[in-house]
Amino acid sequence: CGIVGYLGPKEKKSILLDGLQELEYRGYDSAGIAVISQGKLQHFKAVGKLENLRKKAADFHSDGPGAAIGHTRWATHGKPTELNAHPHMGAFSYVVHNGIIENYQELKKELESEGVRFVSQTDTETIVHLFERNIQKGLEPFEAFKETIRRLEGAYAILLISEAAPETIFFAKNGSPLLIAFDGDEVYFASSDTAVIGKAKEAYYLEDGEYGYAKPGEVKLFGPEGEKELHTQPLPSDKAMAQKEGYRFFMEKEIYEQSTVIGDTMLGRVLEDRVEFEELDPSLFEGIRSIKICACGTSYHAGLTGAYLLERLAKIPCQVEIASEFRYKEPLLTPDTLFIVISQSGETADTLEALKMAKRAGLKSLSICNVDNSSIVRESDATILTRAGIEKGVASTKAFATQVMVLWMLTLYLGQKHRTLAPETLAKELDAMRHTPRALLVEEKLHEKLHRLSKRYLHGHGFFFIGRDLFFPLALEGALKLKEISYLHAEGYPAGEMKHGPIALADAELFTIALMPKTLLYDKIKSNVEELSARDATILAISPEEFELADDFVRTKNGDHPMLEFFEMMVVTQLLALEISIRLGNDVDMPRNLAKSVTVE
Ligand code: G6P
Repeated sequence: CGIVGYLGPKEKKSILLDGLQELEYRGYDSAGIAVISQGKLQHFKAVGKLENLRKKAADFHSDGPGAAIGHTRWATHGKPTELNAHPHMGAFSYVVHNGIIENYQELKKELESEGVRFVSQTDTETIVHLFERNIQKGLEPFEAFKETIRRLEGAYAILLISEAAPETIFFAKNGSPLLIAFDGDEVYFASSDTAVIGKAKEAYYLEDGEYGYAKPGEVKLFGPEGEKELHTQPLPSDKAMAQKEGYRFFMEKEIYEQSTVIGDTMLGRVLEDRVEFEELDPSLFEGIRSIKICACGTSYHAGLTGAYLLERLAKIPCQVEIASEFRYKEPLLTPDTLFIVISQSGETADTLEALKMAKRAGLKSLSICNVDNSSIVRESDATILTRAGIEKGVASTKAFATQVMVLWMLTLYLGQKHRTLAPETLAKELDAMRHTPRALLVEEKLHEKLHRLSKRYLHGHGFFFIGRDLFFPLALEGALKLKEISYLHAEGYPAGEMKHGPIALADAELFTIALMPKTLLYDKIKSNVEELSARDATILAISPEEFELADDFVRTKNGDHPMLEFFEMMVVTQLLALEISIRLGNDVDMPRNLAKSVTVE
């Protein structure tokens, strides 16, 4: 979900809608805004994309002094209906909220027993009723807000406006991201800075447990220990970066950007004869004997790739876990393990919680993340930023590429530090690394070919992406991309494991996307694909080597190094998913049911 707020004299609807537009990738099954101006409250809500809200509020304008809040929702409690959309209202107040109020059932019962009627099925609605009850009990508005927050358990970022305190926005943060930003006297709120870049000049990112209020000429911040100073930092101003720049979809633009951003990832880190990370204090690795990587979704696939590299090249035992599994398995953690979390957004709830667990167990932590100042970055001992730039397509592409690059660089860094990497191998790896931006360039001919091929892959009873070694996580990621944006069933599988079950599915309607690199286990994967072909599966082979049994064939060029083959094949699978999705008429950037950043468990 995403939230925005504004306090100032400008036209409020457009400021809110612009901000929400930037956040829409975080969830978009409904959206809403509420404005208080001249003591009067008004609101608009609509199910579906922001466009619907825009239409609904077309005739509404609110200039002059006032406060406003808005929200774009990804349903957690209750169906995506208009009643369940934020802002939630009481009799004279509105609230928007990200996160989950864990004790809402209990609070709801309490309020209902006092005669409060609930109209939605959400946990959020309890907040506004609690607040209004406190006002009715005679508390001053800010006291009433404080008392409300005190009762909440769980994760939240909250903005609240009320006729009881016109021209005031109350705010609180615990576990879900929230920032307050300024342009002179104007005050903005948002769950992510993308919503305020280009508008506000400086921002303060709230810490857990902080709350306060903003009214004209006065912003007060409090923490558990009382009033606090509000130290802002400058916000970047380049909004243009976040626009589509002529591509049909953000995902397409982001696929094409990979070659450039990977260069940014390497900048100042990949040197002539070694890899350096200025941001890392070498003491982070003292006493470390193994690595545990934890992440979700695409970031998890990057982690799996990294584990192959770390074990093979840096000779460090490395395990990878899905964060939501890790959290409840009662893992055995020892302080000689370095805990690495990978996250594009830096806000994924499961990953953040896994990180906190590892820290409580006394482990040192390193995050690989794309968003500076995000919760995960702030929580971890050290961070390597991936520098992919803002990623807007819900299906992650350039973030994945940069995560894998960082893990590869980290492997070399550790291999050189622990002397587990022979100088000739290091030189070879560095050389290949420097060729990565080229391997990621999208050739028009390739894109055109995938566009043509895609028409044969719009049906069938399923896709298997298969690969071995490094190309197994790539197969998982290729399948995930296709699933996410085409809604076709796809699975990634280790090629050698197909014969232990999945091969039973093989027939002409089973599409196998075979990742067949020349530099890694070519003969092995070839036999696996032959087994499938013999059982009539339809084969799309991706390889630099001609493969006669393939029904369709995409020839790659980089046959010199597994990682160059990896990145080139990654682009092929991304374009394939993109073209299939476009042909099916889906919304590539905002696939149904998905959110860019999942800040709930
Ligand atoms: C969501 C996104 C995925 C992403 C995953 C982890 O499910 O739709 O694309 O891989 O979260 O997100 P993170 O920001 O932690 O990498």
